[in-house]
Amino acid sequence: GSAPGVAADVPEPQAVLGTLTTSSVFLVVSVRDTPGADARVLDVAADIGALVRAVGFRQSEAGLTCIVGFGSRYWDRVQPDGPRPAHLHPFRPIQGAKHDAVATPGDVFFHVRANRADLVFELTRLLMDALGDDVQVEDHTVGFRYFDSRDLLGFVDGTENPTGRDAAAAAIVSLDDEPDFAGGSYVVVQKYVHDLAAWHAMPVEEQERVIGRTKLDDVELDDDVQPSNSHVTLNTIVDENGEEHDVLRDNMAFGDPSTGEYGTFFIAYADDPSVTELMLERMFVGAPVGNYDRILDVSTAVTGSLFFVPSLELLESLAEGDDPTVTSADLERIAREADGRSSPPAPSAPVSTDGDATRPHDDLRIGSLREEPQ
Ligand code: HEM
Repeated sequence: GSAPGVAADVPEPQAVLGTLTTSSVFLVVSVRDTPGADARVLDVAADIGALVRAVGFRQSEAGLTCIVGFGSRYWDRVQPDGPRPAHLHPFRPIQGAKHDAVATPGDVFFHVRANRADLVFELTRLLMDALGDDVQVEDHTVGFRYFDSRDLLGFVDGTENPTGRDAAAAAIVSLDDEPDFAGGSYVVVQKYVHDLAAWHAMPVEEQERVIGRTKLDDVELDDDVQPSNSHVTLNTIVDENGEEHDVLRDNMAFGDPSTGEYGTFFIAYADDPSVTELMLERMFVGAPVGNYDRILDVSTAVTGSLFFVPSLELLESLAEGDDPTVTSADLERIAREADGRSSPPAPSAPVSTDGDATRPHDDLRIGSLREEPQ
C-alpha cells in the first residue's frame, strides 16, 4: 500500500503523514553499552507495530501511531555494512551571537501520537518495559494540544504546514533522491523552554511582530509590516527558482505548572534535513547575520537531535528474523491439499437451499450447517 501523496512505487512510509493529534510523547533514548543491547533495542524498535496494534486496535478511532527514528552513530553500529542514509549525521549545533542550538545525545527516537492521552501513555509504558535496562532515557516529553492548537506563547502553531501531496513532497524521501531509503524521512527535534514571564511582559502587537502573524485570528502580517526577522519570514525558504522548501511540523506544548517549566517541543520531518538546518541557521545566526529570531529571546533550546525514520518496510526488515520460518513449499503443499479437497466438485456437495451455488459457504461446504438444528 502507499500513503496519500506518495508515489505507489515508493515503499510505504511510517505514519509521518498522519494527522496532528491532541496528545503525544516524544521519547529520545540512548542505548547502553552492554552486550547485545544494540540488537535488542533494534528488535523492539523494528517491531513497534505489534505494540501499536496491541494498544490501538481496540480504540482505532483514537488514531494511535508511533514513529521510530535512528540517530547517526546508532545507525552505524547496527548497520555497519549496508548503505546509509545520505543526510544522516549527528545534529549540528549552531552558535549564534546571542542564542545557541545545542546538540544532545540520542540513539533512538519514538514519536507517539493519539487523540487520547491514555493510549499514548500505555504505549509508552509497554515500550519502556520492552526496552528495559538496555536504554537510558535522554528526554521524555509529554505533549498536549493547547486550546485551538496554540503553543504556550499563545499563537496558533502549525497553520502553514504543507498538506496532501505537498506534505509528502516535503517530508518523504523520493526514489530519485535516495533509492535505498525512499519512503523514509529525516526528523529534527528540539525541546524549547519558554520564559513566559518575559513573553507576557511584551505587548501583544510586539509579540505579533516576533511571530509574524496576528495572535487572536492567526492571520499573517501584511508584507509592508512583516518584519525581516519575524519567525515566519526567517522560516520561509524560497530558492532562486521561486520554489518554496517546506518541512512538516508537529510541535506540541508541554509544561509543569508545579515547577514552572513551560515549553514547545519542536519537531520537523523533511526529505532532506538541510531545509530544517537552513531554517535553524536563519533563526539562530540571523539573516543577514545578527537579524535573528526574537522567539529565541524567550525560548531556550535545551535539546537537539537528528534521526532518520526508515520506511515501514525497511524498519520491519531491520528486526531479527527469529520467527520460525515457513517455506513457500509449505504454502504450495497446503494449496495442493486444499485443491485436492475441493476439485473436482464432489457429487455429494450439499446444495444451498436458496439455490445460490456461488455463495462462499457453499465453496467451503458449510451451506447445510444453516439448516441444522441449533
Ligand atoms: C511557523 C511557533 C520553532 C519552523 C510558526 C508559527 C508559530 C511557530 C506560532 C506560525 C504558524 C504556523 O504556520 O505554524 C514556533 C515556536 C517554536 C518554533 C513556539 C519554538 C520555540 C521553530 C523552528 C523551526 C520552525 C526551530 C525550524 C527549524 C517554522 C516554519 C513555519 C513556522 C517553517 C512556517 C512559516 C511559514 O511558511 O509561514 N512557528 N516555532 N519553527 N515555524 Fe515555528
